[in-house]
Amino acid sequence: MKALMEVQGLTKRYGGFTALDNVTLSLSDDAPSMTAVAGESGSGKTTLARMMLGFIEPTQGAVLYGGKDVAKMSASEKRQFRREVQPVFQDPFEVFNPFYRIDHVLTTPVKRYRLADTDAKAQSLIEDALKRVGLRPQDTLGRFPHELSGGQRQRVMVARAVLLRPRLIVADEPVSMVDASLRATILDELRTLNRDLGISIVYITHDLTTAFQICDNIVVLYRGTVAEAGAVERVIGDPKHPYSQLLVSSIPLPDLDKVWGADEIPVTEANAARLNNGCQFAPRCPSVMEQCWRAPPPKFVPDTQRLATCFLYDGSAVAPDDDVASVFRPPETARLG
Ligand SMILES: Nc1ncnc2c1ncn2[C@@H]1O[C@H](COP(=O)(O)OP(=O)(O)OP(=O)(O)O)[C@@H](O)[C@H]1O
Ligand SMILES: [Mg+2]
Repeated sequence: MKALMEVQGLTKRYGGFTALDNVTLSLSDDAPSMTAVAGESGSGKTTLARMMLGFIEPTQGAVLYGGKDVAKMSASEKRQFRREVQPVFQDPFEVFNPFYRIDHVLTTPVKRYRLADTDAKAQSLIEDALKRVGLRPQDTLGRFPHELSGGQRQRVMVARAVLLRPRLIVADEPVSMVDASLRATILDELRTLNRDLGISIVYITHDLTTAFQICDNIVVLYRGTVAEAGAVERVIGDPKHPYSQLLVSSIPLPDLDKVWGADEIPVTEANAARLNNGCQFAPRCPSVMEQCWRAPPPKFVPDTQRLATCFLYDGSAVAPDDDVASVFRPPETARLG
């Protein structure tokens, strides 16, 4: 499989604190997919997204785009990367300049990347991008950011990304600030962009329900490590890692701000005091075994299209470190039965 983006042994430390620890994943170039990255607050999702976007550099490991290390790209390679890999952030209001009309965030990339040689072509590109995300150009252009709803502002940001015809959109909690009634619509629009324009999407979220509804694959992070990854039907439909089992059992979460997941499990004094060189989830894990404390578990493949980094599956095959993409479901194939 050719990879659009490969994340290889990615580690990010802030001082002595490890925000992301040896994360490896791969996005297919042959079939544009939607991949969710899920995990509770502080699990390293944004840190991973920022490295995928080339905004911050890894402490160890690398992000490869089209086979090239993003941290080592030449200026012209970086320019192409910046065009082809587009961010969509949680709070679009921060991105808008309140003194400029909405048009500004759309005309700027058209000029910067010389997407159109006449004003008429620029206008039709912008209108097309707005329509693709469900906005009516006549109701959107000419307005100031505060004159749009949060959902509309977020759609303008998606339209801005679409204008550039990226290969990959990395969307970090794109709908968590948006009114609940609009979330599903905006996520459906992302799915449509994936299908119609062949844009791969990384969807970062707290919300396993929407991840299941719109994504092909999912990576579940716990404290900077991958607990489980693979096809959403496998990981959410029948989770194997005790942490993903815990998450799935707590669906639906009506309140997004509620403490999410494992932090709700009390850690015994004995476990808290214990030296842990192994699995990050060991202190909270209901199935913890002696070996879990000694060394981090490898990527076991208990069945097809998923891996679980958990010693409960010791004896299963182990995913090769450089080929974890093989557990991801190719988007065209029929959903698992
Ligand atoms: N610039 C930084 N300096 C120091 N620590 C940081 C920095 N950025 C992130 N961290 C820490 O790294 C960990 C992971 O943060 P990150 O923002 O990636 O989590 P997240 O999964 O996106 O959380 P959330 O769901 O709350 O957005 C957190 O403990 C955070 O405090
Ligand atoms: Mg975050």
